[in-house]
Amino acid sequence: AGTDAIYKGLAGVVVDTTAISKVVPETNTLTYRGYPVPELAEKCSMEQVAYLLWHGELPNDLQLEQFSQRERAARRLDRSAQSVLARTPETCHPMDVVRTMISYLGTEDPDEDLSTTELLLAKSQRMFAVLPTIVAADLRRRRGLEPIAPHHGLGYAENFLYMCFGEVPDEVIVRAFAKSMVLYAEHSFNASTFAARVVTSTGSDIYSAVTAAIGALKGPLHGGANEAVMHDMIEIDRPERARGWLEEKLTAKEKVMGFGHRVYKRGDSRVPTMYQALREVSEHLGETKWLKIYAELEDEMASRTGIRPNLDFPTGPAYYLMGFDIPMFTPLFVMSRVTGWTAHIIEQTESNALIRPLSAYSGPQQRSVPA
Ligand code: CMC
Repeated sequence: AGTDAIYKGLAGVVVDTTAISKVVPETNTLTYRGYPVPELAEKCSMEQVAYLLWHGELPNDLQLEQFSQRERAARRLDRSAQSVLARTPETCHPMDVVRTMISYLGTEDPDEDLSTTELLLAKSQRMFAVLPTIVAADLRRRRGLEPIAPHHGLGYAENFLYMCFGEVPDEVIVRAFAKSMVLYAEHSFNASTFAARVVTSTGSDIYSAVTAAIGALKGPLHGGANEAVMHDMIEIDRPERARGWLEEKLTAKEKVMGFGHRVYKRGDSRVPTMYQALREVSEHLGETKWLKIYAELEDEMASRTGIRPNLDFPTGPAYYLMGFDIPMFTPLFVMSRVTGWTAHIIEQTESNALIRPLSAYSGPQQRSVPA
C-alpha cells in the first residue's frame, strides 16, 4: 500500500490468507472450514466445532471420544491457579480475571515458548478446557458462593452450566447456550483474532497472544457489546419505551450497541440462529419482555438507519435469561472464541511473516532541541 493510501482501521484491507473461516457478506454466509455455521450450530456440539477449527475436519466417533476425554481431563484448575483467581479483586471486571488467569497459566507452563503444532494444539485444548472452570468460579465467588468442581460425566456446555448454577438447566437452555458457543467460535480477521496474530507474528508465545486477544475482545466495539446491549435493554425496561429511547440515542449521535458490523452491512449471518435460540429460551421461561424490546429496537433502527443487529444483540438478553450476571457475558465469548484465536495462532505460526504495517507521519517538522 505504501504511505500514500491510508486504510484507517485497516478497513477493506486483505492482510493474509486463512483456511479457517470464510465470511461472505453479500450472501450473508459464514463457514468454518467449509461448513455453514448455522448448520454446525444446529447439528454439532462445541467439542465437535473446536475439533473442526483446530484439525480442519469434523471428528469421527473415536476421535470425538478421545478429544472429549482429553477435554474432560484438563478442566481442573490447580491450587495455585485457584489462589491467583481468589486474589483478584472482586471489584475488577471479569474480563480482567480471565485475562490474568490465561497469563498466569502461561507462567505455569514449562514449555511456554515451544511452538510445534502438536504442542500448540495441546495448549489450546487446555485453555479451552479450563476457561469454563475459571469463569464459573469467578461467577460464583462474586455471588458469595463456593466453586463447584467440574463434572467428568457431563459434556462441555452442560458441565459449564452445572459449575455455574449447581445443576444442569433444562434442555432448551443448554441447547441455546451451546449454540451461542458455536456461533461465537470464529470470525476470520476480527480485532481480537488479529491481535493474537500480531503477537504470534513476533515469535511470542500462545499465552501472550491469547492474553492480547482477550484485551481486544473486552472493548464495547467488539465483544463487550453483548454486555452493553443488556444494560441498554434494562434501561429501556418497557417495550413501549424502546422507540423513544432509540430516537434519543440517534439524535445524540451515540452508537447503538449490538447494531452494525464492519464486514456485514446487510445483517450478521449469525443473528437468525441466535435470535431463534433467544425466542425459544424466552418462551420456555415465559419471559418475553426482552424479545419485545428486541423487536421494537430492530424495527425502529432498520427504518431510521438501515443498520441491522449483530450477534451480540440476541446473545445479550439470551445470556441474561439463562441467569448470567451481565459482566460475565464477554467472558462467555472468550470461552468460545479461544478456539478460533488458537486456530489462527497455529496458522500464523505455520506460515509466519512479522506483521508490521507503516504509518504516514503527521507530527511537527523536524526541529532542534532548544539549547
Ligand atoms: N449505531 C448507530 N450508528 C451506527 C452504528 C450503531 N451501532 N454502527 C454504525 N453506525 C453508523 C456510524 O455512525 C456511521 O455513520 P456516519 O457514516 O454517518 O458517520 C456509519 O454507520 C458507519 O459506521 P462505522 O462505525 O464507521 O463503521 P465500522 O465499520 O467502523 O463499525 C462497528 C463497525 C461494529 C464498530 C459499529 O457498527 C459499532 O460501533 N457498533 C456498535 C458496537 C457493537 O455492537 N459491536 C459489536 C460488533 S459485532 C460482534 C462482536 O465483535 O462482538
